[in-house]
Amino acid sequence: MTKAIVLTGITTTGTPHLGNYVGAIRPAIAASKDQNVKPFYFLADYHALIKCQEPERVRRSSLEIAATWLALGLETSNAVFYRQSDVPEILELTWMLTCATAKGLMNRAHAYKAAVAENEQGGEHDPDKGITMGLFGYPILMAADILMFNANKVPVGRDQVQHIEMARDIAGRFNHIYGEHFTLPEAVIDENGATLSGLDGRKMSKSYNNTIPLFEPENRLKKLINKIKTNSLEPGEPKQTDGCTLFSIYQSFATAAEVEEIRQRYVEGIGWGEMKRILFEHINEQIAPARERYNELLEKPDHIEEQLQEGAKKARAISVPFITELRKAVGISRISS
Ligand code: TRP
Repeated sequence: MTKAIVLTGITTTGTPHLGNYVGAIRPAIAASKDQNVKPFYFLADYHALIKCQEPERVRRSSLEIAATWLALGLETSNAVFYRQSDVPEILELTWMLTCATAKGLMNRAHAYKAAVAENEQGGEHDPDKGITMGLFGYPILMAADILMFNANKVPVGRDQVQHIEMARDIAGRFNHIYGEHFTLPEAVIDENGATLSGLDGRKMSKSYNNTIPLFEPENRLKKLINKIKTNSLEPGEPKQTDGCTLFSIYQSFATAAEVEEIRQRYVEGIGWGEMKRILFEHINEQIAPARERYNELLEKPDHIEEQLQEGAKKARAISVPFITELRKAVGISRISS
């Protein structure tokens, strides 16, 4: 049986938070241990440049994200874990794809359209003000990430589904012109509660400034959990689980039996202070061993780099021969050998 290739990238612009953990990292780490799939996970550092021009932040984020995945037990003997910029063939492929992509397709990309809409709403007479070619062509770079390894499945958030569809379009166009080289990828969205609520009850997201960083020191984690918004019901008064941020976060860290037990305690009027204590203890218990490994790894950047180099080697064992095939397909090769 050929294993399904599952591929996903993580843009290196921030520090992983609990929402990233529950929605993306935890399922990806579990998949890395599944011998029926071949996962490709990478640090999308070229994507980082699209939205962040602070070199120190990109550098720090790459380190933190790599350390996070390793600390959480990514199975690197099964998964290929690499840094996008260590695989230069991806950029070469980006150009080949760029030349097979209709500009009109890029005009319809959400990220670009949102930036234009913002300019128009702000009364700007140039709708493209402040928009780089990086942002405009970003779906093509993403298509190259995916098509380089002929990924079958791409786990992404809902906001990225359009990009996977564009990758399919671009692959189809290229195949039509040059012959069947690329597999058409499919997006995989986790439908069951993969989004976590943040401190204010909205989706946990860096753009809402309501996140809890995954590896905050224990006392900071406790403080942040204490900040989660609740209503003003007193201990002893029955409470609703529906729409309760504490309860919804708890569900992402507890077994079905534990969730039922807490549901009962809501009916009995559990106090918010008590619920926050329980939530903190639950999360902390699950995170603490990885947090310790994370802090150790940050002290050993050489070890992290070594892992990434090993991943790059595995990735390039695929990308180098593939780009040679593609060069030939488009007519770029030596005149004589
Ligand atoms: N653009 C994705 C995001 O912002 C990250 C990403 C880059 C990606 N390349 C990818 C995801 C390839 C899946 C496949 O979340």
